[in-house]
Formats: sequence, structure tokens, C-alpha cells
Amino acid sequence: MFHPENKLRTSWDFFVLAVTVFAAIEIPISIVFDIYSSPLAAAVFLFIPGVFVADILVHFNTGFYRLGKTVTKRSTIAFRYLKGWFGLDLLAALPLGFVLNHFVPSAGTLLLLISLNPLLKLFHSGTTPYRIGGTRVNPAILRLVLLVFWILLVAHLVSCGWILISGNPQRLASMPLYIRAFYWTITTLTTIGYGDITPQGAFQTVFVIFIELLGAGMYGMIIGNIANLIANIDIAKSQYKDRLDKINAFLNYRNIPHPLQRKINDYYSYLWESRRGYDESAVLQDLPIALKTTVALQINRGIIEKVPLFQTASEDLIREIVLNLNPVVFTPGDIIVTAGEVGFEMYFISQGSVDVLSADEQTVYATLAAGQFFGEIALLLSMPRTATIRAREYCDLYRLDKDNFDRVIQRYPDFAERINELAEKRKAEIEEIQQSKESEIPEAIEDIQAEYTGSAVSLRWNWVRDLRHYEVIKQIPATGKWVYVEKNVLEPNITDPTPNPDGSTMYRIRAIKTSGAGSWSKPIVIEPAPEEPET
Ligand code: CMP
Repeated sequence: MFHPENKLRTSWDFFVLAVTVFAAIEIPISIVFDIYSSPLAAAVFLFIPGVFVADILVHFNTGFYRLGKTVTKRSTIAFRYLKGWFGLDLLAALPLGFVLNHFVPSAGTLLLLISLNPLLKLFHSGTTPYRIGGTRVNPAILRLVLLVFWILLVAHLVSCGWILISGNPQRLASMPLYIRAFYWTITTLTTIGYGDITPQGAFQTVFVIFIELLGAGMYGMIIGNIANLIANIDIAKSQYKDRLDKINAFLNYRNIPHPLQRKINDYYSYLWESRRGYDESAVLQDLPIALKTTVALQINRGIIEKVPLFQTASEDLIREIVLNLNPVVFTPGDIIVTAGEVGFEMYFISQGSVDVLSADEQTVYATLAAGQFFGEIALLLSMPRTATIRAREYCDLYRLDKDNFDRVIQRYPDFAERINELAEKRKAEIEEIQQSKESEIPEAIEDIQAEYTGSAVSLRWNWVRDLRHYEVIKQIPATGKWVYVEKNVLEPNITDPTPNPDGSTMYRIRAIKTSGAGSWSKPIVIEPAPEEPET
């Protein structure tokens, strides 16, 4: 009993198809050129039915798919075959050509036509390319090739028919005679009809009328089919072009600036180059969960192989993560994660690279490339994002949201531990860089500058480390008491609109730090600007 997908069985189907095509070409030729009774023709007439009989036996012994299961019960298979193709296969397998050849040597031409019975097999074998090639080659191209094949085969049969009924009045050799008949067939079938070869007598005229009608029908079918097939050869491309045309029409209608239009078009080109424009998650949405997992595993194999963290992970864990990964694309310069914000997802890099930046985007902490990930610290340690992440180029990322991340972390402690280690290490690195940057900032207020701007005094001084805010006081000359100018100064500068109008003013400043209040600075004294002499 053969499995329907058995390789040997598939090869056999192709062999039977080849024999059928051979029969369809050879038998009409042997009839019209009267080589019908040659020993070679006799062997052929025996060989073809032999193969077809064997094929019937093979069909009785091949299982089939029903509702996703392979049926191998012999009686069910036989019943199904008897109800289906068996009748036609049997007729095609009858050795009528051989019988006529041997027992009716002087059979008339019409009787010989009976020996065309193996051509009936074309109906059954003709389904083989669709059945076997359908998922392996582009279906539109397959249909186009088969359409051309059927047209040529029909043309061959019509050519032989024309030779049979018009004979060989010009006494041409076999080859030129066939070529002329083929030429007549093609001009007639394509409705060109030069009229250089015309029917003689009623029988030929009726034959020509029939072929002309056939030609008109075929012509219409070919035109309709070919336009459709060519449009569908690359469905993805035509859908993508449609989408791009719509978007561009919209961008023009809304007068979107040209550079932005360019960027959007670049993005679509990238989508086309990287994934032929398909939205993977949308494609998979309709599949049942088990199939979806298998396909997702297949599609995401690349990213799984790239991420070292996954390489030691269990099958279950990978399955769980892969099912919940969502592909996202970022264009060069896009900010993917902003420092200080709350995080709801982490990302795995499949293609491209990103910069890990300080909040002011001035310091690059690291550059991450394909196979690395980011955004895990905010999820793991429930803290604001430690850094800003900016795409350096087009980036294909896979996003894992917080709920799924938390579930994975809870269920797979080993994985949690490894990712935690890396998060702590990265956090420590950032803190170290931040600390070394802060150590360049002085501890105390050292450098105060003061000047009059009109009747007000402007004071400015240096930043200090671990700052909460500054406090500024000044001395009232009459009493010698110190009063606050301002208690909650966030920047290292201030303007006092009411300095001492009669003489110098004295100020002191101190920083309130995260660790507590610092000491007051040395006093700074500013004398009033000398009055401009009147002219
Ligand atoms: P998260 O804090 O959620 O968002 C910013 C991300 O940048 C952070 O998670 C890490 O994934 C990543 N990151 C922070 N520091 C470093 C570093 N030193 N090297 C590489 N990646 C980092």
C-alpha cells in the first residue's frame, strides 16, 4: 500500500503522465502517416496499455487524504477509485490499437480512430502537475506553462486531423506535410486565417468550421487567462504595488512634504526587500494554534539561532516566546525606547543595529546588533528606562510585551536568572558611566559671579553634585540680618530685583543635596554701579 506522498509513487505519476503525452503525440502521427502496422508501432500499442493497467493497480493500492487523515483501508480506496477515475482509466488502458493492428489489418481510417483511446488518460494524468507541483512552484507560472502545453497538444491533434481529411495532394514528404498542417492549424486556431490553405469539399469545410469555432473559443479563453495569470505570477508584488500607489496618492492629496514622502517610500522599499511586503503576524492569524506555532518556529528560526540567550533554552520556552514575538520595523534615527519612561516591552534585534544612549543623547553607552536584545531592565526591575535606544539603520526587531515576558520569567527560573544577570551588569555599567560623569561636577559652590542688570542684581554660580535645589540669602544692611532671596532655586542662577539701593549688597548661596543641606558659600559683595555723570 502506497502513502499518497510516497516519493516513488509521485515519480510513477510523472512517468504515467510522460507516457500519456507520448501516446497523445505518437498515436495520431502513426495513424495519419500510416506507420500504424509497423513492428515499432505494435510494440508501442502494447507498451502504453501495459503502463496504464499497471497504473490502475497502483491506484487500487494508494491511500488518500480525507479530513486530514490518510485512509489506507483497501475497500474504501477501491470504492473511491471505482466511483471516480476507474472507468476512464480502464477505457484508456484497452489495447484497441494492438487488436486492430493484429486482427483487422485493413481497418478503415475511422476505425483506426478508436485506437486513440489512450488519449482519454490525459484527463486523469493531466491533474498530476497541479496535484504535485501546486505547492512547490508558483501556481500562476505552472498554470501558464500547462496552458501553453494544452494549446500545443490540441494544435498537434488538429494538425493530424487536417492531414487525415485533406490527404497529401502536393505529395510532400512527412515533415513538410506536418509543418504545413501545423501552420494551417495555428493560423486557424488563432483566428488569423490567411486563407492560403482552404477546405475542399463539404467534409473538409465542416471540419474547418468546427476548428474555427474551437479557435474562437480558445482565443477568448487564452486572452482572458493569460492576462489574469501574468497579473498573478507575483501576487505579493502586485499587492505591494497597489498599496504603495494608494499611500502615494494619499500623501500627495494631503500635501505631505517631499522628504517625508521619500522616507515613507524608503520604508516600503525596505519592507519589500526584507519580507516581500508581507505582514507575518496577519498572515498567521487565521491558523489554528498548533499550526501557528510550527509556522512561527519555522519563520523565527533565524532570530532563535541568532540570540545566544535562546541557544541553551528549552524547547518549551522557545515555543512560548516565539509565539508571542511581534515583528516591528524601525527606520534610521527612530527612538525606540526613551530614557526615564515606563517600559512595557522588550526587543530582540533580528536585523540592523541600535545605539544605547544617555538621556541627553550625548553619550553612547553601547551599540547593539543582530542577536542582542534590549528593554529588559525596565521589565525585570520595575524601574524607568535606564537609557534611550535609537536605531542606527533600518532595524527588524521582535517585540515581546510585558505580560508575556512576566509569564516566561515566572515559569522558567533559569532563563530569568540569566537575563537578570545581564540586566544587573548593564545597569551597573550605566551607573558607573553616570558616576564618572558626575565626579567631574564639583561638591560645593565655589564660583559665584554677580553683576547689575539695570537696577537688579544677576547672580550665577557652578552646578554641584547630587543637587536637589539651591537657596540664596542676602544681608539687610540696616539690621545685619540675613533674609532669603529665594528658597527653591533649580538652576544655578537667579536675579534679585531689589538689591540694597544705598550701597553694597552681600549674598550667600548653599546647595541642598540628596544627602542633606551643604554649607553656605563665602559671601559675595556687589557694589552699586557708579551713576553715569549727567551731561
Ligand atoms: P531598559 O532600561 O528597559 O531600556 C533601555 C535599555 O538599554 C535597557 O533596558 C537595556 O536593555 C539597554 N542597556 C542599558 N545599558 C546598557 C549597556 N551598558 N549595554 C547594553 N545595553 C544596555
